Amino acid sequence: MTSSGTNPGGLTGSAAWELLLPAASAPARARGRALQAALREAIRSGRLTSGTRMPSSRDLAADLGVSRGLVTEAYEQLTAEGYLRSGRGAGTWVGDAVRAARPVAHDLAPRPGGGRADFVPGTPDLSLFPRAAWGAAQRAVLADLPHHDLGYPDPRGLPRLRTALAELLARRRGVVADPERIVVVSGVTQATTLLGWALHARGMRAVGVEDPGSPQHGALYAAAGMRTVPLPLDADGLAPGPLVASGVRAVVTTPAHQYPTGIAYSARRRTELLSWARSVDGLLLEDDYDGDFRYDRAPVGALQGLDPERVAYTGSVSKSLAPGLRLGWLLVPGFLTEEVVALKRAMDLGNPSLDQALFARFLERGDYDRQLRRCQRAYRERRDTLVAALSEHFPEARVSGIAAGLHAIAELPGRHGPEAAFVKRMADAGVAVRALGDCAHTPTDGPGVRLVLGYAHLTPTRIRTGVRLMAEALDG
Ligand SMILES: Cc1ncc(COP(=O)(O)O)c(C=O)c1O
Repeated sequence: MTSSGTNPGGLTGSAAWELLLPAASAPARARGRALQAALREAIRSGRLTSGTRMPSSRDLAADLGVSRGLVTEAYEQLTAEGYLRSGRGAGTWVGDAVRAARPVAHDLAPRPGGGRADFVPGTPDLSLFPRAAWGAAQRAVLADLPHHDLGYPDPRGLPRLRTALAELLARRRGVVADPERIVVVSGVTQATTLLGWALHARGMRAVGVEDPGSPQHGALYAAAGMRTVPLPLDADGLAPGPLVASGVRAVVTTPAHQYPTGIAYSARRRTELLSWARSVDGLLLEDDYDGDFRYDRAPVGALQGLDPERVAYTGSVSKSLAPGLRLGWLLVPGFLTEEVVALKRAMDLGNPSLDQALFARFLERGDYDRQLRRCQRAYRERRDTLVAALSEHFPEARVSGIAAGLHAIAELPGRHGPEAAFVKRMADAGVAVRALGDCAHTPTDGPGVRLVLGYAHLTPTRIRTGVRLMAEALDG
C-alpha cells in the first residue's frame, strides 16, 4: 500500500485505510459522502487516533482507487469539522479535538447549557430524580447494612440486588432472570466492554452492529479489539439477508426501540434472529435501550426471554433514574457467565456495595416502579407535545418511532436538506438537533432531512418553543 510509509502509531497496519475501501466502492454519486462518513467513523471509533498523519491525498486516492479530488474534498470537509487538521507545511493529521469528540458519539456529551433549545437525544429529565425517596433509602441502608456487606463484594453484585433485579426484569421485560447469571455493572457501557472482551478472549474478532445505530456500540467493541460490521435495517429490524451474508457470529441489537430509528423489532424478526443465532452457534447482544418506556403499544418483552442461551441482555438506570448513578445489569448465557464474572472482578472487583444495597431497597419497596410510572406519564405528555408542535409548524414532516423511548424521528422533505446544512442552520439559530445521518455507517443518499429529536429532558413549553424556533430559523 503506497501510504504505509505515512502510517505511524495509532493504526494497526493498514486496517484503517482498508476500512475506507467499502466507501470507495460506493456508487459514484454517493462516494464523496461515503468516504467522509467512513473517515469520521474511523476517527470517532478510535481506529485513527489523534496525531496520526494522514497519507497524502495522492497516495490515499491511489490506494482506494478514487479521484484525488474526492480525497482532497474529504480532507477539507473533515478539517472544517475539526476531525482533521492541516499542518503548517504540507500534511494532514487527525485532530486533537477528536479526543474530546470520541466518547461524545451521539448522546454522552455533557449538555452545554447555552443555546435556546436542545433536542439532542440521550438524557432523561434529571429533575425527575426522586431525591426524597433516594435520600430516605440511603439513610435506611446506612443504618441497616451489616458490617460484612462493607467488605469486598461478590463481583457479580450483592445477592439481594440480583434477586430484586431478577424479579423486576422478569416482571417488566419478560426476561428469564436467574440471579446467578446477573452481573451488576456500571451501565450498558461497562456491560458492552465486558462482552467485547469476553468474546475477544474466545477468539471472536468481528461483531455486527445496526446501521444506522448507536456510535457507542461500534466504539466500545472496537476498543475491545473487534472489527464492527455495519448491518442494514428494514422495517422489521435488522435485515436477515445481510446478517447471514456477513459471516459474523455476534450482533448488537436494540429491539425495544432501535437507536436511532425508533423501530420496534417485529415478532417475526425476533424469531428469525434467534434462528440465525442458533444456526451459527452465535449470540445476540441485546441492549434494552429505552425498554422502560412505551406509550401506546402493548408491551414487547425482551428478546432474551425467548432464548436466554443465545442472548446477552443489558440495561441500566441511566434513562429511568440518572446516568450519573452509573448502575446497570448484564445477564449472560450460562456458557459465558464465568468468563464475564472473572473480567468484572479483574476490572473493578464489583460495584460499590452501598449503592447496590440502596438500589435493592429502592426496588424491593416499589420506589422504582413508582419512578417508572412517574417518568412514563411525563414523557408521554412530552412526546404528544412534540408531535403536536411538529404537525403545527412542519405539517409535511413524517414523524415516526414515537411508540416508545425518549426520542422521535422527524423526516422533512428535500427542500430542507442536506442534513449537515440544516443542522448548521439550526445551530446558528441556537437550536441543537442531531441528524440521523450522524448515526449511519453507510450514508443514505436521500435529499431530505431526518432528525433524531430527544424530548424527555425538555418541558412541554420548551418543546413548543424549540419547534417554533426551528420553523423560524427556516423562514428567516
Ligand atoms: C445505545 C445506547 N445504549 C445504552 C446507553 C446507556 O449507557 P449507560 O447505561 O452506560 O449509561 C447509551 C448511552 O448513551 C447508548 O447510546
